[in-house]
Amino acid sequence: MADFEVRDLGLADDGRNRISWNEQDMPVLLGIRERFRHERPLKGMRLSVCLHITAKTAALVRTLAAGGAEVVLVASNPLSTQDDVAASLVVHDEIPVFGYRGESLDTFRSHVKVALDMRPHLLCDDGADLTSALLQRGLDPAHLPMGASEETTAGVKRFKAMEQQGVLPFPVIAVNESQTKHMFDNRYGTGQSALDGIIRATNLLIAGRTVVVAGYGWCGRGLASRAAGLGARVIVTEVDPVKALEAAMDGYRVMPMHRAVSEADIIVAVTGNRTVVGAEHFAALKDGCVLANAGHFNVEVDVAALEAQATHKTQPRTHVTTYHMPDGKAFHLIGEGRLVNLVAGEGHPPAVMDMSFANQALAAEMLARHAGTMSKRVHTLPQSADHMIASLKLKALGIRLDGLTTAQHEYLNSWQEGT
Ligand SMILES: NC(=O)c1ccc[n+]([C@@H]2O[C@H](COP(=O)([O-])OP(=O)(O)OC[C@H]3O[C@@H](n4cnc5c(N)ncnc54)[C@H](O)[C@@H]3O)[C@@H](O)[C@H]2O)c1
Repeated sequence: MADFEVRDLGLADDGRNRISWNEQDMPVLLGIRERFRHERPLKGMRLSVCLHITAKTAALVRTLAAGGAEVVLVASNPLSTQDDVAASLVVHDEIPVFGYRGESLDTFRSHVKVALDMRPHLLCDDGADLTSALLQRGLDPAHLPMGASEETTAGVKRFKAMEQQGVLPFPVIAVNESQTKHMFDNRYGTGQSALDGIIRATNLLIAGRTVVVAGYGWCGRGLASRAAGLGARVIVTEVDPVKALEAAMDGYRVMPMHRAVSEADIIVAVTGNRTVVGAEHFAALKDGCVLANAGHFNVEVDVAALEAQATHKTQPRTHVTTYHMPDGKAFHLIGEGRLVNLVAGEGHPPAVMDMSFANQALAAEMLARHAGTMSKRVHTLPQSADHMIASLKLKALGIRLDGLTTAQHEYLNSWQEGT
């Protein structure tokens, strides 16, 4: 087995600059790193991390290594790796990294295999890819990881499906379920960075355009509000009546996708579901419509249907593929239908990943200390972790808040006092 597989080690110094720039905006994680350096809670642990290889992830794996873990990092997506960051981790931090931007699916899978072959004690998953591959290859009870943490909504769904089917092999901490993760990363991170990716890819003016946001979950809420803030007319599509009502009361038009497509200049799917925009919509889809996916897997826009129905395709810009349809219309797909913010942009700003990856670091610590006594279920971090992370973030932002007086505390915990 090679020690690493990255694009070009000559990019290492550029990568180090990029990591330093990002770490400046990650004070919570750096605080945890300092504590880890002293306490070494991960000493003796082999930890396989499968995340987007970006500067923010570099900040996390450097923190896990400071905690004493022997870390290997593999890409969680073939198109999201920042090659300079991968090189820097190998050269400057001696962390084995397997991933380069544009790797084939076979290479991606071979890197997942490397991460599992090192017989990790702990997994850090994003979309449950490591665990799913582990289950599919057959479990070796002698070398079963003690536990895993999961980064995103899509992965939590897969882990819950494993739990329901009784095949979850170890305890999992659903980092996504922490408030300091999904309320900030999914909402403000995806909201800003998905639009940033679309703008970088197309240089389109958002103002005055109709943007359709499919899915009004944490990510969709962020996207809709940011698109509206840039002057877009926003339409939301949903399948959940409560979310649809919320979108309507937040001031957006809500309608089924088959109607929205005839008005859409830009469609961003962020449902975590499959075939949200597909062949059934092509006839009504406006000529020149931009299609993007911000959900974890590349199944939300039916790329296979575009490939099958187009007469030919062109590549007018780096991350834009234009599909020319038999009726003369053209649709522009960004980033091959993969996560638009990571393919065409730099992913989330470090300020939100600071909190997501603080949760990841605490999850690794909790598993290292307590996995042996935790049930084989999907767990969350305790609320105290959210409070600690939010308090540290507020402090870093120079924001102070009130505290309860004793009388207020007693009032909130009593039932006698009323009208
Ligand atoms: N781009 C990123 O960097 C990033 C960041 C965080 C999460 N994600 C991913 O984004 C996706 C959404 O995450 P979330 O946290 O917003 O999830 P969520 O569960 O909060 O929201 C998803 C919403 O989509 C709706 N939905 C499902 N099927 C639909 C359909 N066919 N049409 C319209 N709406 C539909 C659901 O009712 C739900 O309200 C997941 O795949 C997640 O892993 C991406």
